[in-house]
Amino acid sequence: MSNERKIVMSGMRPTGKLHLGHYTGALRNWVPFQDQYQCFYSIVDWHALTTDYQKPGAIKENIRQVMLDWLSAGIDPEKSAVFVQSRVKEIAELYLLLSMATPLGWLERVPTFKEQQQQLKDRDINTIGFLGYPLLQTVDIVSVKADFVPVGEDQVSHLELSREIVRRFNFLYGDYFAEPQELLTPTPKLLGLDGRKMSKSYDNSILLSDSAEVVDQKIRPMKTDTRRQRRTDPGVPEDCPVFNMHKSFSSAEERETVVNGCTTASIGCLDCKKILIKNMNNFLEPIRERRRQYENIAVDEILEDGIKKAREKAAKTAAEVRDLMKV
Ligand code: TRP
Ligand code: SF4
Repeated sequence: MSNERKIVMSGMRPTGKLHLGHYTGALRNWVPFQDQYQCFYSIVDWHALTTDYQKPGAIKENIRQVMLDWLSAGIDPEKSAVFVQSRVKEIAELYLLLSMATPLGWLERVPTFKEQQQQLKDRDINTIGFLGYPLLQTVDIVSVKADFVPVGEDQVSHLELSREIVRRFNFLYGDYFAEPQELLTPTPKLLGLDGRKMSKSYDNSILLSDSAEVVDQKIRPMKTDTRRQRRTDPGVPEDCPVFNMHKSFSSAEERETVVNGCTTASIGCLDCKKILIKNMNNFLEPIRERRRQYENIAVDEILEDGIKKAREKAAKTAAEVRDLMKV
C-alpha cells in the first residue's frame, strides 16, 4: 500500500488572457488540489495549433499570459508542475504510439469534432491534427499517469474517449494504464456580460487582469431584466445577467437583498450593480496583487522547473509503452 499522493492533471489552451469563467469553471478548483494531490498543469500549445495552425502568431505570447494568470490565481510552482506541452517531446512520441491503436471512428464520433467544424467555418480544420485532439488530450493525461482530471462538463466526452483508449491499450498490451476519472465540481455557471456563455470570441468577459476601473466600466452598462424599464418596474433576477454574476461573487445575504429589492422594485439596477462591482473587485484584488509580484519575474524560469518534472514522468511512461509495444 503506497501512501503516494494521487495524481491530478489538467490543461488549458493558450488562447489569451484568462477570464472569470476560466477561474470559476477551473482554476478555482485547481488551487486547493495542490495540497491534496500531485498536480500537473499544462499549457497545451499543440492543442491550440489544432485550430490555429493557419495563424499561429499569438501562441507564444499567450503562453506567457496564461502563465501569469495561473500564478496570479494561486497556482504555486513550488507545489505543482506547471509546464508547456510542446516542451515535453515524449508527449508527441506517445501520441504517435497510441495513434496506432486508436480507431478513426472513435475520434470521428466525439461530439466536439463535428460541432467545432460547424462553428469555426472561417478555417479548415478537417485535418489529422484536429481529429486527433482528444487523443492528444488523452496522452497529456496518461503521460503523467493521472488519476483525476478536473474539467468542465464540456470535456466529459473527451474523458470517456480517454478511458476507451486506455482500456484498448490495456487489452492489447497488458494492464498498464489506470482509467482516468473526471473531477467535476458543481459551481454555478458564470455567464458573460450579455448573458451568453463567457467567451473571448463574444467579447463579453471580465478578465482576471482587469483593473478595478475596467470592472466598473464593464458592469455599469450591462443590460438587465427587460421588465425593469422604469425604476418602479419590478424584475425577475433569474432573467438578469447581473444576478447570474451575483451567484458567483455575492454572499447569500446579499443575494437575498437583491432578490427582494429587484422583485419589489425597492432597489434600482445601479444599486444592484454596485454591490456586484464591490464584490468582484474584492475578489480580484488578491489576484491583482499576486500578478504585480510576478510581473517582474522571469516566468520562463519557473516553467523550466515544471517542464523538467513533467518530462521525467513522461519519459518513464514512454519507455514503458515502447517496451509493451515492442519498439
Ligand atoms: N481540451 C481541454 C479544454 O479545451 C484542454 C486540455 C488539453 C486538457 N489537454 C488536457 C484538459 C488534459 C484536461 C487534461 O478545456
Ligand atoms: Fe438585474 Fe439587479 Fe436590476 Fe434585478 S435589480 S434586474 S437583478 S440588475
